[in-house]
Amino acid sequence: MEQTTAMPMAATSKAELLKADAELFCHTFAYLKSMALNSAVKLGIADVLQRCGGAASLSKLLSAVPLHPSKRPYLCRLMNMLAAAGIFTAEDVVPAASAPADGDGAPTTIYHLNTVSRLLVDGSSCMSLCVLLDTTDLFVSASLQLHQWLLSEEEGPTTGSPFMMVHGGSLYGVGSRDPEFNALFNGAMGATSKFIAALAVRECSQVFTGITSLVDVAGGNGTMARTIAEAFPRVKCSVLELPQVIEGISHDGTVELVAGDMMEFVPPADAVLLKHVLHNWSDEDCVKILRRCRQAISHGARAGKVIIIDTVVGSPSHQMLEAQVTMDLAMMMLFNGKAREEHNWHKMFMEAGFSHYKIHNVLGMRSLIEVHP
Ligand SMILES: C[S@@+](CC[C@H](N)C(=O)[O-])C[C@H]1O[C@@H](n2cnc3c(N)ncnc32)[C@H](O)[C@@H]1O
Repeated sequence: MEQTTAMPMAATSKAELLKADAELFCHTFAYLKSMALNSAVKLGIADVLQRCGGAASLSKLLSAVPLHPSKRPYLCRLMNMLAAAGIFTAEDVVPAASAPADGDGAPTTIYHLNTVSRLLVDGSSCMSLCVLLDTTDLFVSASLQLHQWLLSEEEGPTTGSPFMMVHGGSLYGVGSRDPEFNALFNGAMGATSKFIAALAVRECSQVFTGITSLVDVAGGNGTMARTIAEAFPRVKCSVLELPQVIEGISHDGTVELVAGDMMEFVPPADAVLLKHVLHNWSDEDCVKILRRCRQAISHGARAGKVIIIDTVVGSPSHQMLEAQVTMDLAMMMLFNGKAREEHNWHKMFMEAGFSHYKIHNVLGMRSLIEVHP
């Protein structure tokens, strides 16, 4: 008797099924995209293209990227994958009819920097350190145990997130013991800050108007506070950070540096900034931090404000939303923290004693939120 084998989901057309197969294949190997990006940063490919005027043929790239001679044939494979992913742009140029006769007439591929890869070029908005941090062994090994963490019942100081479960302590604990990781983490945070700070002071200058003092709580290496101090010279800026971070910052006098624990004390100021801080913490801890911030801004005759730069999940753009939920999963994996939707923020603000807030959606996947007592 003849037997027919049912195709998965009979109603799905062959074209849809094959598209789904290709899509699943790409999702499954998506880590190769991350690692190809990591390699491109380590090989300095974006900088080479920049030195070549923004574009170069494979042979020009090969003459500048220090590969082992036996590996020269492989560079185009890396570049083609990164170009297909949209990180570089590949253009096939057909040789002119007058080209030397020894050419085989095959098109030459020219690789161009584009908006994405320009963010990898050494300079003021370089995000290469973020790529290296986000693809570091410590993060990748933790993400490989996501399922184990989800299956495990226990939750404690060393198992609260996949990162803690795998590395036996919090990310900041590991940072205090591992100077190389600490420097990479703080450098990467500083790189994002440079990029975001420039946009925030330009797009939301009214938020900083009238403020005479600002403390950047958990302000990393001080990049954000320095940008604000430079853009608004009348604002006296300081940074509150853990001692291990303060130790690594060179004092240039632009901002005051305060070593301390934000859970215990926040120095008084007209405004408190919390950039990329609250997504590391549980709702309970966030309310505690926000209460400390409310005390800090309530010292003068007129109440100040808390300025938050963080994710408000729910962008109408599919790409931004994907970035926001990726941020959420990353925060879960690293800290058991989370990226929050507006109703989550609202609840925390009210619990911490604030009366109103305003969200400025001007920073792409992130937002700036002004919170008032
Ligand atoms: C994700 S980073 C963001 C740094 C900075 N705000 C930025 O956007 O670049 C979070 C920061 O919180 C700091 N931090 C963690 N626990 C802290 C605490 N208890 N008191 C003060 N800072 C703390 C860390 O050292 C780290 O620099």
